[in-house]
Amino acid sequence: MSALSTRLRHALGTLVLLGIIASAVPASAQQAAPPPPAQSSQSSPLIDPDALAVNEQTLLGDFSRVEGSILIPNTRERVLIQPAGRLWDYFHEVLLRPIALIVIFGMVALLAIAYLAMGRLRISAGRSGKRMQRFSAFERFSHWLTATSFIVLALTGLNITFGKVALRPLIGPDAFSTVSQYAKYIHNYVSFAFVAGLVLIAAMWMKQNIPRKMDITWLKEGGGLIGSKHPTAGRFNAGQKMIFWFVVGAGAAAAISGYLLIFPFYVTNIAGMQVAQVVHSLLAAAFVAVILAHIYIGTLGMEGAFEAMGTGSVDFNWAKQHHRAWVEEEVAKGHLPQPTLSATPAE
Ligand code: HEM
Repeated sequence: MSALSTRLRHALGTLVLLGIIASAVPASAQQAAPPPPAQSSQSSPLIDPDALAVNEQTLLGDFSRVEGSILIPNTRERVLIQPAGRLWDYFHEVLLRPIALIVIFGMVALLAIAYLAMGRLRISAGRSGKRMQRFSAFERFSHWLTATSFIVLALTGLNITFGKVALRPLIGPDAFSTVSQYAKYIHNYVSFAFVAGLVLIAAMWMKQNIPRKMDITWLKEGGGLIGSKHPTAGRFNAGQKMIFWFVVGAGAAAAISGYLLIFPFYVTNIAGMQVAQVVHSLLAAAFVAVILAHIYIGTLGMEGAFEAMGTGSVDFNWAKQHHRAWVEEEVAKGHLPQPTLSATPAE
């Protein structure tokens, strides 16, 4: 009996509550709803807050963000219009492609001119036939980890910049959408391999890339590229040191700006992410250009250079021509027999 009366009291309570809500809703709905257009000008003193009353240009020009009011606690959802997004859109859709094209193809043109003007830099004494160890297996692993992940990042990243105009017309929108989706996943995940390679490279080679006095002479003498001199260098010459510091700096900046985009809103707001995207994309173009120069010197531009990273060893005459101070240091450390420093006949 008491259970029945309790249930009756609950049912009655619920009915009363529903009644209150039902009578309140139309009243609040009337308050929120705009007055009917035909009567608004005559019977209501309210200003119509639509495009007739508000000049859009003034609105967008005067405020960096247009926010509404919402009841859910997520404040980010309040942003209705963010005019700075148009500026970013202009950068991404209009400015970025020509800038990136000029930077990348400018470098390709420079390298082509260098090749035509100077040809391949030969081992002037010819090959000695004797080899000396230049890079350990672990050093080569770290280098190739960074290099292969860089190439994957560059290709999948450049698809974001150029794919819409270069690839979509060729393969159609459906295939392009699938390719881009996978390319984006690959870009995100391969970034971790790139960062791992970068950390290894930085840790292994930082000390040997600190500038020395002889680097200034090397630079003054054009690194042996200009004129017939072969300026001496340690294990890394000034040109390689510049590439090293660029890779470490630009790699770190690419990683930071990239992770700000992969993990949105953890550290920055939308404006911060726009800056990160601009930094990331411009840096990427410069990075590709610099690495193209690095690849050129390591392959086409200089005889005997690729072997260092390919097999780990170099021809002895190559080492003496390009890194004489390093050979001397290796002899001093007892890593090479003393007579190897004397002239080595070509075979
Ligand atoms: C190191 C870690 C890196 C991370 C975490 C990373 C992450 C990202 C992210 C999240 C985007 C935006 C993708 C989107 O719009 O949906 C992006 C774009 C891009 N990334 Fe990376 N990236 C990294 C390294 C690199 C490197 C080394 C390159 C080298 C060339 C590169 C080239 C690009 C390019 C060209 C874009 C497209 C820019 C655009 O047009 O908007 N990224 N990256």
